[in-house]
Amino acid sequence: MRPPLPGVLASLPQPIIMLAPMAGVTDWVFRQLVQRYSAPSMVVSEMIASQSMVRQIKKTMLRHCQEGENIAVQLAGNDPEIMAEAARLSVDKGACLIDINMGCPVKKIAINSYAGSALMKDLPLAAKIFRAIVKAVPVPVTVKIRKGWDDQHQNALDMVHIAQQEGLAYVTVHGRTRTQLFSGRADWDFIDALQDAVDFPIIANGDIVTPEDAARVIARTSGVMIGRGSYGKPWLLGQIRHFLDTGQHKAAPSLSEQKTITSDHFQNLLTYYGTQQGLLIARKHLSWYSKGLPGASDFRMQVFQESEPTAILDHINRLYDGAIESYLVDSDAKEILQDTALAACS
Ligand SMILES: Cc1cc2nc3c(=O)[nH]c(=O)nc-3n(C[C@H](O)[C@H](O)[C@H](O)COP(=O)(O)O)c2cc1C
Repeated sequence: MRPPLPGVLASLPQPIIMLAPMAGVTDWVFRQLVQRYSAPSMVVSEMIASQSMVRQIKKTMLRHCQEGENIAVQLAGNDPEIMAEAARLSVDKGACLIDINMGCPVKKIAINSYAGSALMKDLPLAAKIFRAIVKAVPVPVTVKIRKGWDDQHQNALDMVHIAQQEGLAYVTVHGRTRTQLFSGRADWDFIDALQDAVDFPIIANGDIVTPEDAARVIARTSGVMIGRGSYGKPWLLGQIRHFLDTGQHKAAPSLSEQKTITSDHFQNLLTYYGTQQGLLIARKHLSWYSKGLPGASDFRMQVFQESEPTAILDHINRLYDGAIESYLVDSDAKEILQDTALAACS
């Protein structure tokens, strides 16, 4: 029996399927697509530096939740009072959940700023941050951690106990240590054992990229969080939900729908960020969308060299039209072969 989830989380279909916070990826534009093609799923903002949130820095506000969004906002920092203030401001702006980043491994955050995964080495400070934020906001508060700092210091269980004592709603665990960064495989057995050890919701994260992966992990935990698997597939969380509910696979959108999704994503990025910055951000998304399609490597080269939005839209159209055509030729060929085989049998 899974421990129940509070607040907005209880109103979502269980088990919870969540989009991971990914700086530079899960911005408002991508979140909108996930909300549309994978509804109802929980989405989390990119990591927000608490200090910048309190100072209302323009760039930070662009990464925050936007008008009408009902999402979790993830805060990073190490000062309990500043983080509590950032949490209050986030809820005023519409956040329905505050997630605390205690898993980020990058040097700028974990070493230079003593935040993110560095807080796994300072449990008393982590506890103070939890207490201050829980006291400050009326919405569920959660934390995202790793297994520990390194193989010798795998203290996720201690962190979970503290989170439970301080009134957090759940803990998300990325099944790697800080020193692993993104190398090796995420350790799902570790997450299973953690969930078995506590009567408290654990959300599993790391290397969950297919509906079958999610079914494997969800067998023991309260939910899954999907990061890189959603690259170029804002519909993946919806496919996972369908598989968990029915045991059946849900097809990806048709190629012509994917053409529309890709073009809309591209145009919305330019509108949201302005052409120059939008183009830079769009390139990585376009290359993820093109993965596996015929002509993808030429497409990527063209898109990386081109700075004229209409020319890029033409490349997108050509990529998908070519893919649709080769799919049709392929299925015609299959039908002809089938007819020939049937004729040979008759
Ligand atoms: C580009 C990128 C940006 C990320 N940014 C964040 C972040 O802002 N906050 C956070 O807690 N984790 C961040 N992560 C980690 C992911 O949330 C997730 O824990 C990790 O990618 C493992 O899950 P996955 O295998 O499903 O991708 C980031 C990961 C990537 C690849």
